[in-house]
Amino acid sequence: MKPAIEIISERISDAIQKATGQNVPAIVTAATDAKFGDYQSNNALALAKQLKANPRQLAEKIITELKIDDICQKPEIAGAGFINLRLKPEFVAENLLKINADKDLGAEKTEKPQTVVVDFSGPNIAKQMHVGHLRSTIIGDCICRMLEQAGHNVIRQNHIGDWGTQFGMLSYYLDYKEIDAFLHERYQKRKAFRPKDFIPDAENFYREAKKLFDNDPEFAEKSRQYVVKLHSGDKHVKFNWQFITDASNEEFRNLYERLGVRLSSGDTRGESFYNKMLPDVVNDLKKVGLAVESDGAICLFPEGFKTKEGEPLPFIIQKSDGAFLYATTDLAAIRYRVNELKADEIIYVTDARQKLHFEMLFAVVKKAGWLVPRSFSEGGAKNAKLVHITFGSVLGEDGKPLKTRSGENVKLKELLDEAVKRAKSVVEEKNPELKNSEKETIANAVGIGAVKYADYSNNRTSDYIFSFDKMLAMDGNTAPYMQYAYARIKSIGRKGEEKGIDTVKELKGVKEVYLNEPAEFELAKQLIRYGEAFNSAIADFKPNFLTSYLYELAAKFSAFYNACPVLDAEPKIRPSRLLLCELTARTIQHGLENLLGIKTIERM
Ligand code: ARG
Repeated sequence: MKPAIEIISERISDAIQKATGQNVPAIVTAATDAKFGDYQSNNALALAKQLKANPRQLAEKIITELKIDDICQKPEIAGAGFINLRLKPEFVAENLLKINADKDLGAEKTEKPQTVVVDFSGPNIAKQMHVGHLRSTIIGDCICRMLEQAGHNVIRQNHIGDWGTQFGMLSYYLDYKEIDAFLHERYQKRKAFRPKDFIPDAENFYREAKKLFDNDPEFAEKSRQYVVKLHSGDKHVKFNWQFITDASNEEFRNLYERLGVRLSSGDTRGESFYNKMLPDVVNDLKKVGLAVESDGAICLFPEGFKTKEGEPLPFIIQKSDGAFLYATTDLAAIRYRVNELKADEIIYVTDARQKLHFEMLFAVVKKAGWLVPRSFSEGGAKNAKLVHITFGSVLGEDGKPLKTRSGENVKLKELLDEAVKRAKSVVEEKNPELKNSEKETIANAVGIGAVKYADYSNNRTSDYIFSFDKMLAMDGNTAPYMQYAYARIKSIGRKGEEKGIDTVKELKGVKEVYLNEPAEFELAKQLIRYGEAFNSAIADFKPNFLTSYLYELAAKFSAFYNACPVLDAEPKIRPSRLLLCELTARTIQHGLENLLGIKTIERM
């Protein structure tokens, strides 16, 4: 279903073509103020400059040619030459019924489905996920959900940091603590065990090992030997590496599950996966003359990148000791994604500090011609598109990057525990009569939802201040507010039942929509704009367009519910009002659950 704004835009384009012979895209936006109507076009102003004409006269000409009376009332010209448009209630009513019949409530499917690889989350083994990974994880998940909603083939890739010299140390530490011998013995006896039972906190494990590494020369020497063994594929060391990786991955998976993020073990393709491809990456780039030796290291010098001193900036892919780098792995990953996963597009979601890395990476692969799948290179297939999606930092209430009192990174797990704990005490206070299991369910939905929603509702590119008080507030643009709005609508059905009104049956029978009250009309207009909000959110991968839309929807619902009785309405219009309630609930649910991965609750 096409959103109204798109139909209007097409009509405006046609009218401009007829009036001026110009083929220009329509500039149509939602009106900034309700007194200007619902939509506004400033095409006449832009064109007048170009054609050296009077903008108001041009606007006149455009509206003379504009065929839009099936959608809008008579267009008006305002100010210097704006065209103001007001939707007709008949059009809105008809669309409301169409949306009701659509499980996606007007969110459109793409005409050109693509295979899109989304690289997000990417935590590091034996380190806790901290708040920095929070944004990548949840924004990445939302991007995937939106792309899937639009009908694309999405391939999620969790580029976990699971390779590097520290794994020699960790693998040796497992032996040092004699966990390993114990494991092998149990393994022989085929007793089940989980890595997590032995390494409950991977970060702590890392810290202990590092302390030994720094203070005990013998330990350090052994660790270095283990790195060599790991690289040469030694079975025993590989087992240890796998064990540590599994323990960490289990921690990550728990967090994804709590966060409602769809990332499974099948989506994990860590750095280690690309390890065997790295020598080829370097050799191939050397062969075509792009990679050269510089101060013992192998580097590329993509055009346009300079150091502060104005020297060409190197993109290092192999150190003088032979070690490969983060960049080398990313080069291998692109080849894999283009050739094996058949990506039309690759989206990376990381914080803004990696901007330069990705700019250089993209420049290198473009130059190397690696964006055309090998199998197609002769047929001149299209280049895969590369996109780096960045986001700002999470700040503490003091405006500095969020840290614990002792100055450490705040751990994601502790943050979520705290949010749920606070939500629980609100539930205890407001609904002491509920069963404990129900309180838990609500506290989890609200606490986790609040953390996610607060992140989504901020413009993704800005920093934002993390505040439990704000994100858990029952009023304002927060998850609890949206969840409450949803639960409140759900309670209407239950109240109807008590009054002996079969709301389900009335809803099924609704044939006509009445939008005579201003609050009804306002709510209905907002409801038919869900597809428009979805399109603007996906266009720029900005979840805050969705949260703003939902917030406005909840506000319009409140105004409607205050002004218009629903259950006590006269029988003729009651089904129509029930429909407005039902569609509001469905839209909130679709937005929160399907697109943002935030749970709704039936009562709160
Ligand atoms: N592990 C990296 C980090 O913690 C993020 C990985 C991002 N993805 C990539 N293909 N480089 O910063």
